[in-house]
This record gives sequence, structure tokens and C-alpha cells, in this order.
Amino acid sequence: MIKIAPSLLAADYKRLGDEVRRMAEAGADYLHFDVMDGSFVPNISFGPDVLRQVSDCGLPVDAHLMIVNPEKYIDTFAAAGARIITVHAEATVHLHRALQQIRAAGCLAGVAMNPATSPECLRYVLGDFDLALVMTVNPGYGGQKLIPACIDKVAEVRGMLDRAGLEAIVEVDGGVNEQTAQKLTAAGADMLVAGSALYGAPDAAAFMRAARG
Ligand code: DX5
Ligand code: ZN
Repeated sequence: MIKIAPSLLAADYKRLGDEVRRMAEAGADYLHFDVMDGSFVPNISFGPDVLRQVSDCGLPVDAHLMIVNPEKYIDTFAAAGARIITVHAEATVHLHRALQQIRAAGCLAGVAMNPATSPECLRYVLGDFDLALVMTVNPGYGGQKLIPACIDKVAEVRGMLDRAGLEAIVEVDGGVNEQTAQKLTAAGADMLVAGSALYGAPDAAAFMRAARG
């Protein structure tokens, strides 16, 4: 089944715990936790202390590190309770080492790519990650429109994994709504991050059913 990861970025920050539990009850699989440093991306979001607080609210945490030199913080986010830690291929000079560090910390390891980044960045680390995250907007903000060219990249990444005989998760992030979800899963995505469209939906469970198709 297609996994759904609500993005905490779109939640009501006055009631974070309730916002996570509401998504768990509606059938979400992971809590997507966007970490932004004001350097790799223009915006600043949450850090490890917030992750620790929300990690026992009913969903395993999928930490998306949009930060430079992510190696510095991998162990901190793992200790705070992350289940998946994803680093950007563009944000580290030593991607292979960072992925090993994530696995050594007991987490699933993810590689994220910005919209303009080629999926070739995965070629020499195939087998060293558990998840590939295809950004379908430029990272930094919720509520943006999906960039259509990124849908082809989802299919390319899925093809690379299939040809290598690997079963890593293909996650997509940015501009996911009930309509774009169909196109993304048809292209081979099996985990959908949804922020503004899901938190803004009148019925979160119905949104998830529709997005899963
Ligand atoms: C963007 C973040 C996303 C964001 C998605 O930089 O990585 O996870 O929360 O938000 P929506 O679903 O509103 O595009
Ligand atoms: Zn994200």
C-alpha cells in the first residue's frame, strides 16, 4: 500500500501533539519532519527537541534534513527518535559516508534530490540507502505547486532501483494533493509527503484514501 507521511510543517503549531495524533488516527504511516537551517534553504523550521516531543505521538518520524553538513546532526536526530533520516545529495560532500552514518545510528537512510538535481546522484550509492526522496518543489516552503518535470524523475528513479534489483522506497515531497498523488504513484512513488493539502482537508482519512488510489 502507498505510504502517507503528513508534513508537520503544515500543522497548527499551538497543538502539535494533537495534530500528529489526528493524522495517526486517520491512517498515516509516518510523520514527515522538515528540518530547515536558513542556509541550505531560505527558511528555518524545527530542531531535534521538537522531534523528540512529537516522536511519541503515534507515528514513526521521517526526518527530512534540509541543512548543510547534515553529518553534524545525524546522531542528534537519531537519538531524538527519528526512524528515517534523509539528507540532501547537494548538501554534503560525503554522501556515502553520511548514509553509512545514518544506518550505523539505527535509522533507515534516505537521499533527497532538489528539482534540478539529476537522479544520477544515486548511481554510486545504490544499495547504500533505503529511501530516495524526489523533491517535487524547491525545498523551503509548504504550499507550493508541484513542478511537472519532476514526475518523470520519479519514474527514472524507480527504473534505476528496479534494474538494480533494489526495493528502496521512492518518496515524493511537495505539491501533493489528491490529483497529483495519482500521477506520482503511477510514475512509481510509494510514499507521499502531504502538507498543506492534507492538513487543510476537511477529512484527513478521505484524503489519504483518495491519494492512495
Ligand atoms: C518543503 C518541505 C515539504 C513541505 C511540503 O520544503 O520539504 O515537506 O512541507 O508541503 P506541501 O505538501 O504543502 O507542498
Ligand atoms: Zn519535506
